Amino acid sequence: MPASSNLQVGSYALKKLVGEGSFGCVYEARHIHLGHRVAVKQSKWKDGDEATLFLQEASLLSRIPHHYTIPALHDYVVDREGFPFMVLTWAPGQTLGKILDVQPNADRTAFVARRPLDDEHTLWVADRLLEALGHLHKCGVFHGDVKPDNLIVDVPQHGAVLTDFTVSVAGSKRDSVGKGGSPGYIAPEILSRMPPIGESDLWSAGKVMIAMLGGDPCTGVVPSDTCEPLRDLIAHLLCADPTVRPHSAALVRKTIHEIREKVFKRPSTREALRFRDGTVLTVKTKP
Ligand SMILES: Nc1ncnc2c1ncn2[C@@H]1O[C@H](COP(=O)(O)OP(=O)(O)O)[C@@H](O)[C@H]1O
Ligand SMILES: [Mg+2]
Repeated sequence: MPASSNLQVGSYALKKLVGEGSFGCVYEARHIHLGHRVAVKQSKWKDGDEATLFLQEASLLSRIPHHYTIPALHDYVVDREGFPFMVLTWAPGQTLGKILDVQPNADRTAFVARRPLDDEHTLWVADRLLEALGHLHKCGVFHGDVKPDNLIVDVPQHGAVLTDFTVSVAGSKRDSVGKGGSPGYIAPEILSRMPPIGESDLWSAGKVMIAMLGGDPCTGVVPSDTCEPLRDLIAHLLCADPTVRPHSAALVRKTIHEIREKVFKRPSTREALRFRDGTVLTVKTKP
């Protein structure tokens, strides 16, 4: 059994399990002397391909210059039994997948949002995701697994942090093939085993927008009541030929800001979050 049973990893006391995947578990933890909160990600594997991927994820994170949209790696610890752990900045909030309440649809052919967002709020969440991707791409990093479960959204602050660099690829390895991705979100050129490029993450960002609006990312069909400029943006992100897609996250952000001004006549919203059914969360602590 990995050292979660010890309830302490290095100088961090594990408090609560907050996420579990096939590769490992993520705990909310506190520094035993300083008291600050961190996320501790534990590998379920001591050796083999999965352990190598875990070490590569940590190594890649350690080389990304700090940015508030990406968790910083504070430490990498191996416990007495040989299980490795990453200590990461704590990202407050909930995953976008949880906020949207992504569930199988009635005929179980797709996972769709039970609580989709309205167009304006889809745009601010997309803007934060693209801010994270812009930083990564400038650093020469391809994320490779952009999806609602890997974006932690701080609704009152209108902030977001992109997590999970398990299949990310950086710098010198960019001429290799991608390491994976998620059905419904992975770009066609990655499936064809072409080298990953920033535009491949932008494709996935387009699919995340569809998920936020309540559509099915697998079919790529955008709900018909979506405003036209947003539909056009998504269509541009989902061009099969990556050279025809927008060339940078910054360009997509520029279009998002233009849509917000053109359609909603304002650069920002007063509400924290508005769902497509009109329900509004009003607590917003920052413009
Ligand atoms: N830095 C973090 N701060 C807070 N929660 C986190 C952090 N990183 C991950 N999590 C939580 O753990 C879950 C799993 O983390 P992730 O890195 O996506 O690993 P996995 O490979 O298991 O999908 C996330 O969906 C999120 O709920
Ligand atoms: Mg994940």
